[in-house]
Amino acid sequence: MPFLILAFGGGTVGNIVGFTAGMIYRGIRYIEVPTTMTGQTDSTLSNKQAINSKTGKNHFGFYHAPIFIWVDTQYLKTEPDFSKRSGIIEGIKNGFISDATFLDYLEKVLHPDVNFTEEELYQLSFNIIISKLKILKQDPSEKHYGIILEYGHTFGHGIEWLEKGKFSHGEAVSFGMKIAAELGKELGLISEEDVNRHYYLIEDKLGFNNPFPNTITAEKLMDAMIVDNKKTGKELRFVLLDKVGQCYNPEGDFLVTVDQELVKKVVENFIYKSQISSNIN
Ligand SMILES: NC(=O)c1ccc[n+]([C@@H]2O[C@H](COP(=O)([O-])OP(=O)(O)OC[C@H]3O[C@@H](n4cnc5c(N)ncnc54)[C@H](O)[C@@H]3O)[C@@H](O)[C@H]2O)c1
Ligand SMILES: [Zn+2]
Repeated sequence: MPFLILAFGGGTVGNIVGFTAGMIYRGIRYIEVPTTMTGQTDSTLSNKQAINSKTGKNHFGFYHAPIFIWVDTQYLKTEPDFSKRSGIIEGIKNGFISDATFLDYLEKVLHPDVNFTEEELYQLSFNIIISKLKILKQDPSEKHYGIILEYGHTFGHGIEWLEKGKFSHGEAVSFGMKIAAELGKELGLISEEDVNRHYYLIEDKLGFNNPFPNTITAEKLMDAMIVDNKKTGKELRFVLLDKVGQCYNPEGDFLVTVDQELVKKVVENFIYKSQISSNIN
């Protein structure tokens, strides 16, 4: 095959190039050189390539792997803090869904200004990559066990979509994880303490503590989620925790259908709580 494309940039460039490479002649070779935390530790490891449609995220896509990925954490030196946080949040997610000891590690090394030495940044990126690869090794399709990587993403994609670029993917997922934790508590799966650990890691340790956007209502978020790509018919399905470091898997399925009224109630309470805390601050 005479063509070879280079994807040099963040996760957005990686997905657009991966999608384009997969479509040309039913798939040509491409190389990824990710330059953001999200690109280096998360998006390039999935071979999922997707673009949005007019009505929602990732509506067109397929699997297409690069011939190799070249990661150099030197690129992260110029990455803005909010963008770095957006990548690290997926590492926090990996701990919650698959490895409680990884959360202990993150609690030690993270600090809200995300100002790391070169060595610290290298180690952190490397460890987040490993945390995701351990999951992908078991299910590279991300459809069965690997679907746990979608923790917080059903809510997150809805928020990301509604904010139309005002929030990064990672920041939207950070809210999504907090709401998923609240939903897990409401269903009696995890404790208040487990939920508080989400807030502690995301807000106090990572510094992702912007207020929830006041333009998003529970109704809007519910509507956005219903057109999200994970829906089956009209049901809303979520990845939920069984405990810290493990996902809930009733009857062999990590995607759990939850009554829409209950989801809406949890979202309403979350928005109410966020409004109160942003008024206090
Ligand atoms: N396919 C997947 O499995 C998967 C997983 C996670 C995220 N994603 C996708 O990735 C995208 C988010 O990726 P992202 O967080 O890298 O954002 P991004 O690609 O949108 O980049 C964010 C910004 O950072 C700039 N930038 C890139 N590298 C830089 C550097 N080294 N220094 C300074 N600025 C730099 C970019 O120009 C851009 O303005 C979303 O579209 C998301 O849906 C896909
Ligand atoms: Zn993600």
